Amino acid sequence: MTAPQGWSKSDWRSRPRVQMPDYPDTAALASVEGRLAQYPPLVFAGEARRLKRELGAVARGEAFLLQGGDCAESFAQFSADTIRDTFKIMLQMAMVLTYGAKVPVVKVGRMAGQFAKPRSAPTEMKDGVELPSYRGDIINELEFTAKARIPDPQRMLHAYTQAAASLNLVRAFSTGGFADIHRVHSWTLGFTDGDDTARYRDMANRIQDSLDFMSAAGLTGETNHELSTVEFYTSHEALLLEYEEALTRVDSTSGKWLAGSGHMIWIGDRTRQPDGAHVEFARGVQNPIGLKCGPTITPEDMKGLMTTLNPENEDGRLTLIVRFGAGRIGDHLPRLIRIVQEEGANVVWSCDPMHGNTIKSDSGYKTRPFDSILREVQEFFAIHRAEGTVPGGVHFEMTGQDVTECTGGVRAVTDKDLSSRYHTACDPRLNASQSLELAFLVAEELSAMQSASRAVDQVKASHGHEW
Ligand code: PEP
Ligand code: CO
Repeated sequence: MTAPQGWSKSDWRSRPRVQMPDYPDTAALASVEGRLAQYPPLVFAGEARRLKRELGAVARGEAFLLQGGDCAESFAQFSADTIRDTFKIMLQMAMVLTYGAKVPVVKVGRMAGQFAKPRSAPTEMKDGVELPSYRGDIINELEFTAKARIPDPQRMLHAYTQAAASLNLVRAFSTGGFADIHRVHSWTLGFTDGDDTARYRDMANRIQDSLDFMSAAGLTGETNHELSTVEFYTSHEALLLEYEEALTRVDSTSGKWLAGSGHMIWIGDRTRQPDGAHVEFARGVQNPIGLKCGPTITPEDMKGLMTTLNPENEDGRLTLIVRFGAGRIGDHLPRLIRIVQEEGANVVWSCDPMHGNTIKSDSGYKTRPFDSILREVQEFFAIHRAEGTVPGGVHFEMTGQDVTECTGGVRAVTDKDLSSRYHTACDPRLNASQSLELAFLVAEELSAMQSASRAVDQVKASHGHEW
């Protein structure tokens, strides 16, 4: 992909923008943008291109995308342990998928940059007091005071530092021995002791057995880079465009623009206006782009967005992250699949079963029932099976911590439990046990899909010709 003719990284400024703050102190904003523009990018073009190639394989059904992490990363909860535990649970989930469905897993964290949040309302009411909404730690503070809610550009520098430190740790974990497959048992989290963990241990034993065999046959981690390291990518919603622009650089090897804030960026369901600022920004950078698709997306929007964001129909460039809700996905996904097929567009289909399934619990907490999440994933697979298309991946809000934010799961979290460990700054996340349980389900769906397509291949082969 070449940057569109005449595109510049600040063109978004002349387009209508939504969900972005108006900074009262414009001089402070300009100074922060100037500093950020001098800071090194967090990711490099070769990495983004490799991810794009891997997503190309996902679109063809040769790999599976696992994208997950916090709804909103928080400054206050930043710690090595939090990052390590999310990394661990993602490794466990990836292992379940690779082992169960025999596919390589492309691992992408909602991490090291996932700080800015679109909100359903510009203001929030509490006890008769109305204040501007919290928009993520990169913009303002969660605390319910007028001062905390003023957008402060200095927070961008804090976010950059936290993203850089997070990425540094993730890179160290990925290649420094922690992710070595021989450590498959050690990724288990201390507090997980349910059926899902027993199931994981059982699988890890079988993997260990295979590794022992391979080692006896002379294949070890030292001789096999693939066994001792993993690729782990970062992603976030490219919402705060001043931050994104400041970290956007020309990649000297290709002469193309790269959003240097993360490997993959996505456009949210509320900011995907075809002529809006967010689409204008994303179209010019070479990173893989995600596009959230909710119930309000029209066929015209969809066609226009695919052309604008992927004019050359490049492999792995565009991931459609559908988020309709359990019981509603059937009303929308088939029509989107039809459009993609008519256009001959090359896309990754990914299922976000979180954002269409948010409810208010009786206890007042924003939650998501595990059953609805699970059901939307099952429906996503069933629809792709019926359409003969590729269910490429899943997108979860999850954490390696033992939180009580979504209800249900094998170690059932009840409505009453929500108050016990409800730590999210924004949307409710799956805890480690719920995440693992879902991974087992996805692995089953994927391998069922593969057996079905193998059966079709056998029938085709026995007929000796293509149908
Ligand atoms: C999100 O991913 O946190 C989000 C806000 O999603 P969406 O744009 O799909 O509502
Ligand atoms: Co969210």
